[in-house]
Amino acid sequence: MAFSLDLKRVLISDSVDSCCKTILQTNGIVVDLKTKLTKEELLAEIPNYDGLIVRSATKVTADVIKAGNKLKIIGRAGTGVDNIDIPAASLQGIIVMNTPGGNTLSAAEHTCVLISTLARHIPQAAASMKEGKWDRKKYMGSELFGKTLAIVGLGRIGREVAHRMQSYGMTTIGYDPLVPADEAAKFNIEWMELDQLWPKADYITVHTPLIPQTRGLLSDKTFPLCKKGVYVVNCARGGIIDEASLLRSLESGQCGGAALDVYETEPPTGVSGQLVQHPNVIACPHLGASTVEAQTRVAKEIAEQFVDAAQGKSLFGV
Ligand code: NAD
Ligand code: MLT
Repeated sequence: MAFSLDLKRVLISDSVDSCCKTILQTNGIVVDLKTKLTKEELLAEIPNYDGLIVRSATKVTADVIKAGNKLKIIGRAGTGVDNIDIPAASLQGIIVMNTPGGNTLSAAEHTCVLISTLARHIPQAAASMKEGKWDRKKYMGSELFGKTLAIVGLGRIGREVAHRMQSYGMTTIGYDPLVPADEAAKFNIEWMELDQLWPKADYITVHTPLIPQTRGLLSDKTFPLCKKGVYVVNCARGGIIDEASLLRSLESGQCGGAALDVYETEPPTGVSGQLVQHPNVIACPHLGASTVEAQTRVAKEIAEQFVDAAQGKSLFGV
């Protein structure tokens, strides 16, 4: 990059590890940490800043961007930038960047835990123990060994999930329009088209961004193509598995159980909330990246990327 950004003041508006603030300050940037701002408060604050750092709670909508008449850069301490209106930012010449790999391992590990807890009904069994029960029959599980895991989205997280679940003896199949079959084979994933993949899977896990092409990948059209009793996991973005269809499939038994980390509405209300309450759903409050290691990594990475931008170094995560 041949130019440097004039970054004097940065607002961190979500809970980001404190090393982010420290790194920015050490490099001469004034930083304010103001979390849980209402939309009105954010609109009032944003004109004071050259840069903004968020996680997922702050919605960086077109009106926030428009109000940020000094804004030059918006950073996501995480992967998905779906809470940032990128076209609006681009129109205003604002750089949007994320930390693509910083939470990959945590999200992958979380997915693997969700798959194994689905197989053994761990949360339900643990809750029954707290109620003083000793119910060994009700929570009969199944082995993962020999089962087929379908991975939709063979990017950073999808590949790490495959690697880990193969150690349980699972067969891994997958689909990604941008990853050719020979590339998938390097990760011991058999690439196939979705219509071939659905009927083969005992477990399905999705690891794509939420974009028009991935919204409702599992839906009333595709659930019937799956094995009866298929288990599904969504640790990517709410809406990739259509929530109303998932609820219907759980009710009919077409889906045997779901593990959800993300929802169409966060915190979950409406259908998202009904899914959380379903006995065959294991629900977490968007914890995929919530580890000490991932949070330290993404906070450090986004701060360093901002400093690089201010110092005219080449940019990463743009
Ligand atoms: P990535 O960009 O490395 O991989 C995404 C993959 O999806 C890419 O390979 C892409 O080609 C593929 N893809 C795009 N369209 C597709 C389609 N129509 N069908 C199948 N595949 C398609 O991203 P990643 O780092 O692996 O993250 C995956 C998802 O997980 C993102 O939505 C991210 O926001 C989310 N995420 C969630 C958490 C959490 O806390 N739950 C944490 C980290 C990431
Ligand atoms: C992400 O896209 O990085 C995740 O949703 C994790 C987060 O909440 O930051």
